[in-house]
Parts: sequence; C-alpha cells; structure tokens
Amino acid sequence: MKKILVTSALPYANGPLHIGHIAGAYLPADIYTRYQKLRGRNAIHICGTDEHGVAITIRADREGKTPKEIVDFYHERIKEDFRLMRIEFDNFSRTTLPLHYETAKEFFLRLYEKGYISKKETEQYYCPNCKRFLPDRYVEGTCPYCGYEKARGDQCDNCGRWLEPKELINPRCAICGTTPELRKSFHYYLLLSKLAPKLKAYLDTKKSYWKPEVIGLALSWIREGLKDRAITRDLSWGVPVPLKEAQGKVLYVWFDAPIGYISSTKEWAIKKGDPDLWKEWWQDKENTKLVHFIGKDNIVFHALVWPSMLLGHGDYVLPDNVPANYYLNLEGSKISTSRNWAIWIGDLARLYPADYIRFALTYSMPETKDSDFTFADFKERINNELVNNFGNFVNRTLSFIVKYLKGRVGPLTDKGSGEDAHILSLVEKAPYELGNLIDTYNFRKGLKYIMELSASGNRYFDKMAPWISRKQDLNRTKRTLSVCYALIRTLSVLIEPYLPDSAQKIRKMIKSNLRNWEKAADWSIPTEIEIERPEVLYKKVEEEKIEIKEEKMDYITFDEFKKLIIKIGSIKNAEKVEGADKLLKLTVDLGDKEITLAAGIAEYYEPSELIGKQIPVLVNLEPKKIRGILSQGMMLAADEKGRPILLHPEKEVRPGSKVR
Ligand code: 2FM
Ligand code: ZN
Repeated sequence: MKKILVTSALPYANGPLHIGHIAGAYLPADIYTRYQKLRGRNAIHICGTDEHGVAITIRADREGKTPKEIVDFYHERIKEDFRLMRIEFDNFSRTTLPLHYETAKEFFLRLYEKGYISKKETEQYYCPNCKRFLPDRYVEGTCPYCGYEKARGDQCDNCGRWLEPKELINPRCAICGTTPELRKSFHYYLLLSKLAPKLKAYLDTKKSYWKPEVIGLALSWIREGLKDRAITRDLSWGVPVPLKEAQGKVLYVWFDAPIGYISSTKEWAIKKGDPDLWKEWWQDKENTKLVHFIGKDNIVFHALVWPSMLLGHGDYVLPDNVPANYYLNLEGSKISTSRNWAIWIGDLARLYPADYIRFALTYSMPETKDSDFTFADFKERINNELVNNFGNFVNRTLSFIVKYLKGRVGPLTDKGSGEDAHILSLVEKAPYELGNLIDTYNFRKGLKYIMELSASGNRYFDKMAPWISRKQDLNRTKRTLSVCYALIRTLSVLIEPYLPDSAQKIRKMIKSNLRNWEKAADWSIPTEIEIERPEVLYKKVEEEKIEIKEEKMDYITFDEFKKLIIKIGSIKNAEKVEGADKLLKLTVDLGDKEITLAAGIAEYYEPSELIGKQIPVLVNLEPKKIRGILSQGMMLAADEKGRPILLHPEKEVRPGSKVR
C-alpha cells in the first residue's frame, strides 16, 4: 500500500493565522489526511513554522525585537491557532532547528557538487539614503511581465512570478522611496535553465490530473524560459551557506523552507524512536505519494522550484500533486494583514465552536477560483445547513428513539424495499462516492454530498412520519428509526474529516465506536442498541455581524490640509511651570512674532536642552489657556509609545518658514 505524505505550507512565524490561511491550505490538508487515516491508509501530515526570511526580520525591526524572539512567540501562537481549529499534524517543526540547518546545508552541497548551483558575480541594490544593501523584498517597482506597479523584488503579487530586484522597472527602496544604486556582490545561483528539461518531463506527467490552473501556470512559465536564480542573500538571519568563501551569506528563505518538509519528517522519525523512518517516506519513490497543500502565491515555488531542487538532488520523492487553492476574500475585499482586514482564528474561535468554522470555511473554500467569506453567508450556512439539516436529522431521530422506543433501536438485517431500500443503498455507496471526491481534492463537493445525504434522511423521516406510525404500527416506527440510525452511524464516520468534534459527539450519543471508512458502507445493525437522551448538537447563530476592526484611514481633502498652518519656530526660552509637572512653557520665535506654547514634555526634556532648537509648530490652532498659560499653538513631535520625540529641520531655517 502506498504511503501518503501530506504537507501543508510552512506558515511564516511572523503573525497569527487568519481564516484565509485555514481555508487555503491547512483545512483541506487536515480533511485529506484525516480521511486517508480513517480509510486505513498509511498517511502522515507534516508541517512547521517557516522562521527565516525578510518577513520575519521586518517584523522584528518594527517591534524592536530580535528575529528569534519573534519566531519563538509566533511558533507557539500558530500552534495554538491550529489546536483551536482541530488541524492535526503528525509533526509540527521549525526551520530554526539544528536538524533543519543540517538538512538544508546537505541539500545545498549536493546540488552544488552536482553542478546545479554555481557562484556568480552580481550587482545588488544599495540604498544610498538608508546606507544598506537592500534584500529583495525591500525593493519595489513595476513588474516587467504584467506592469503591476507595486511588485516586490522577490515576487509580483499580481501575476505570481518569482522576480529578481534587478528586473523591476523604476525600482525604489521600500523603506524610504529613494532610487537605489547597483553595487557589486556575489551570490549562488540555482541553475534552473539546466534543470528545465528534467522539470518539463516531470510536469508533462502531471497534465492529466493536476488542477488545470496549477499545471497551466507551471507549463507557461517553463515555456517563457526559466532563468537561473540567486538562492543566497547577504543577511545575518538564515541558514549559513555551507562554503568557506561565503561568509556572511545565508540561504534564501524559499530555498530552505521546502526542505523543512524533509527535516520535519526527520524530527517525527526521531520522536518515534526510529530515526531512519523518514527515509521510507522521502526515499521510497515507488511507494510514496507526496502531496503539498498550498495557497496560490506558493505555486511557483512548489510546482517549479522545489521539484527542480528535488530532481537535482536525486534521492527524493517528487510531488505527486500540488492541489493549490485560490484566495479567500473577506466581505468582498482581499484579506490584508497590514490593514488588519482579516478575521483572526483566535478571535473567531472565541465566538464559535471549531466545527462551525470548519463547516463554513469548507463551504467557501477557494478550490477553483477566489471565493468570498461573508458573515451573512456564515450565518445562513450554519443555520440552514448545519443546524436545520444535519443537526436536525440527528436530533430528531435520536429524540424519537428515546421518546417512543425507550431508547432502543435495531436490529436491522434486511434492506427491505421502497424508501427503506433507497436510503440503505445511499449508505452502501456513500463512503466510496465521497472518498472519490476527497481523493481528488473536491472538498467542497464532498461536504455538500454529506449535506445531501442528511437532507435525504430528513425527507425520508418526513415521508415515513414516525409520529403518526407510532400510533398504528410500532414495528414500522422502529424500522424507520433504525434506517435513520444506520444513516447517522455512517454519517458519523463520513463527517469526521470535516467536523471531528461533531463526529465524536455523535458516536457517543449513538453508542458507536465505528471509525472505519469502508465499514461505514454497512447499514446492518446486528443486535438491538440502547442509546441515551441526545444532547442538541448545534445552536443557531443569532448575531447579525461580527466586528472586524479594520484600521481605517480617515482621509482628508487637500483643501482641508491647506487649512493647517505649520511653521518652524526657534525656541528662545523654556521653563518649568509651577504646579504642573508635565508642562513646559516655551517662548518661540516665528520670525515676525514670538508666541507662547504650553508643551507636555517636561518629563522627557530639560528646559536647557531645548533653548536654541528649531521645532514645527501648528500656529493657527485656537489659543487656549492651559494651567494659566495662554498657549498660542501646538508644538509637533513624534510619538514613540507615548513618549514625545522632538522633530527638527534637517538644517537650520529662517524662523517662520512654512512646513508644507
Ligand atoms: O507563503 C508562506 O507563508 C511561506 N512561508 C510558505 C512556505 S511553504 C514551504 F515551502 F515551506
Ligand atoms: Zn507581475
């Protein structure tokens, strides 16, 4: 039997997870793996945090922390988000482990020795204003392929291509906007041009069964011609390049991250007490099926770069499939973590049980195109499908069994005819039909298939009207409810990959321990079963909306801006104010006049430090008396976590100069 090695994209350890992450990669991977395991197949789900790269260092710089502090924090936070969503892994590792460093270095050296990596002189952008070499993500400009004006130096967010900073038209430093200059450096290049024929042959075998958009993109990029790409960077955070001559250089994050799939599997094997076990998963080419779940921005790396690396290395299995998802939008707009236009898992899981969220996210999973998550849909689907259809079928059946049959159901040994036989034949084929949908990555269709089954159950229940038959023919009632019970027992297995908590609750209520996919096709109830009073599975969603706190900009017009008169003034005098610890009284020269300001900076600046300094002042603010001082304007300063930091013109200017 084939081993199924499932991976999902290693999330960057630079922020918590939102619904887009879950619907894009992790939920489908989890459903797929849970299903394979229930089917008795040998499957593992491998992941971990991606802890290198500029995404991490940017966050660390912004928060005044070290990259290590950032990744330690978010590794734990992300694990918690997965726990809340019941996303399970056989191993969840980190790319900062020594084991990963060794594995990545070994990979690099193998490609280097085999002539698939070579050193090249390059020119790299240097920002004369920031006085530093710019990592590729710090350069912005226009994409040479699609014309998108805000492409980053590593990838174009519009067309998805892997870029190099030098290809950008009108490059700018992403920090200060200055046009950077090129300076000499050297880097190691992955010779994709040399690997292209092998890659093409590999991709040709995928045409018949990969998602059309994934294979289509990969083949079109190959047709355009693959360029050799630098896979090292001048940075201090990352896996050091394992060559003496390369001091100070690290592997590019997209080179080391996918190798994390291998190192995480190695860690899993070590934890299992069998350190060589990983080889059975990565080196048994005939008997392993490797599947990478990712979002669409990762297609280029998983369908081109990573297979090229694997082909070059030679010892490892190649991906059987890369079932990438599109994007999940939120209320019609692209999810944006920088604008905080996102629903964070931690927030949502405080409001609703994991299964509600898994249900709704599977329903809007962006499998074949971008999809939209709206709260109105969330509410409608939970209330109409999960509560009124699925939950209702389970609850009404079990309540009737308790109420009219003293909790006793079955046996059921003959299929009968008519409506009974119809429902029982659905049971017989459901595991196979649903299995085919999941095996071919049709998760949405799979969930709808299950909802259709419970809807059939509800129709059957209505038609057989056990509330009437119980008065005339209790045997008939018992048979009806036994057929319903058999369907629920099957549903309790089929729903497990999607809604694991519900499956567990149902099993407990129906006194079943069946957790085997193929046995779920068997409707027979050999002996009578006694169940207990059921608990209600789901409650309706009552809220009208959930708050998403977008950091909205309140834009002002230019005319409004023009009303502000800001001038540079020179501080002539500064003194403490009696009875007001926080205030300083400033006398400021504005060229044509002197004004008085009350400034709340006494805790941070001594009067003597201020005299002679130039500062911007908003001069047409309505004068106001503060602690006995008539303040005739407002001094402007930067706010660093509540602490004022004075601003000065870059060189001395005439007092009274306007700030525009
Ligand atoms: O896009 C991302 O979030 C990346 N951290 C995914 C890496 S996937 C893999 F190759 F490790
Ligand atoms: Zn582009």
